[in-house]
Amino acid sequence: MQIGVPKETGEHEKRVALVPESVKKLVANNVDVLVESTAGVESNFSDLDYQNVGATISNTSSSVYSDSDLIVKIQKPLVEEIQLIKEGAILLALLQPTTNIELIQELASKGITSFSLDAIPRIARAQRMDVLSSQSSIAGYKAAIIAANNLSIHLPMMMTAAGTMPPARGLVVGAGVAGLQAIATGRRLGALMYAYDVRPVVKEQVESLGATFIDESTYEASNTETAGGYARVQSEEEQNRTQNLLESAVTNSNFIITTAQIPGKSAPILITKTMVETMDAGSVIVDLAAENGGNCELTSLNKTVIHKGVKIIGPANLPSTMPQHASQMYSRNVGSFIDLLLDNNSLKVDLEDSIIKESMITYENQVFDEKTLEAIRDA
Ligand code: NAI
Repeated sequence: MQIGVPKETGEHEKRVALVPESVKKLVANNVDVLVESTAGVESNFSDLDYQNVGATISNTSSSVYSDSDLIVKIQKPLVEEIQLIKEGAILLALLQPTTNIELIQELASKGITSFSLDAIPRIARAQRMDVLSSQSSIAGYKAAIIAANNLSIHLPMMMTAAGTMPPARGLVVGAGVAGLQAIATGRRLGALMYAYDVRPVVKEQVESLGATFIDESTYEASNTETAGGYARVQSEEEQNRTQNLLESAVTNSNFIITTAQIPGKSAPILITKTMVETMDAGSVIVDLAAENGGNCELTSLNKTVIHKGVKIIGPANLPSTMPQHASQMYSRNVGSFIDLLLDNNSLKVDLEDSIIKESMITYENQVFDEKTLEAIRDA
């Protein structure tokens, strides 16, 4: 059985799906690993590092695709890459299937069984495989660093001979995995942190990090979450209420980090242009929802917009800006997922396993995932 690790071809993608540490474990289990030359270089893993743990290096991506039984990627493959994959092989990647239905149909037509690692259920048994959490946590950390780097004031209180400077005030909107990490990083840097989330259940987590939760007692906890623990889409009236609630916190913040997302939908606009205009010149907004349209009305993907002295930064793919740790964490997640598929040195898809069932998008020649099938029917 051979696992193939192609070099990522996406623009700005510096991560690699398997790092030497994980390759070593697979090789010890008698699995062959074929890595495309320079696949790990941007994450600081050389070809020699892979060879030293028993991997074979291929100078072409085509043989990695065509000779492997299991292909492990980060970004979705291109159609040309899918053409190279052998029939019956398995693919693991971040496929975002409901928004890439043509690609999914291509995978099914080639008889490739595919798993989207962003669809792994958020259950305790799957925590070690949870790529969304590992990568979001990096994004949250980096967002706080970007905010600090773009401010023209200190984050901590500074008591100097030239006088005392008060600490910066930071607001995090959306206290999921990324938001909680942004709060923790902001606190470590000495800022006074505030946070808001539509799910009141996160209040305790926010407070345990030393931040103040912006509360709205009128929400019913049970009414804001889906069964999977994600926030549900808010009505227009609810969204207006959130904006009103956030108004004074926004005005009083030196920096804001927004992370509010609804899986498969556009991000809600929680910070309007009018709200931005109440902030002091020099304030910074880092919008982690930029790839899904942004939580701030003024966000532009991959750009820094300056509006009345306020910088609104809309970064894409922040985990890739810290490729070494991001790859290590992704690779450990993927390694745990591969363990689920390995059965005595061969691959076995256990259709009774809930993690397999929920993350499987195509099974042989069929589109298997119900939400993807729905998206195909609606297209
Ligand atoms: P996400 O990336 O989907 O969203 C980020 C945050 O934005 C969430 O906390 C969400 O509630 C919030 N949000 C959405 N709409 C909003 C609005 N209109 N106003 C304010 N906030 C809004 O979330 P993430 O970080 O992927 O976490 C999703 C869920 O998965 C959470 O319940 C989390 O606790 C859970 N989880 C469970 C794990 C497990 O293994 N049991 C592991 C990691 C996360």
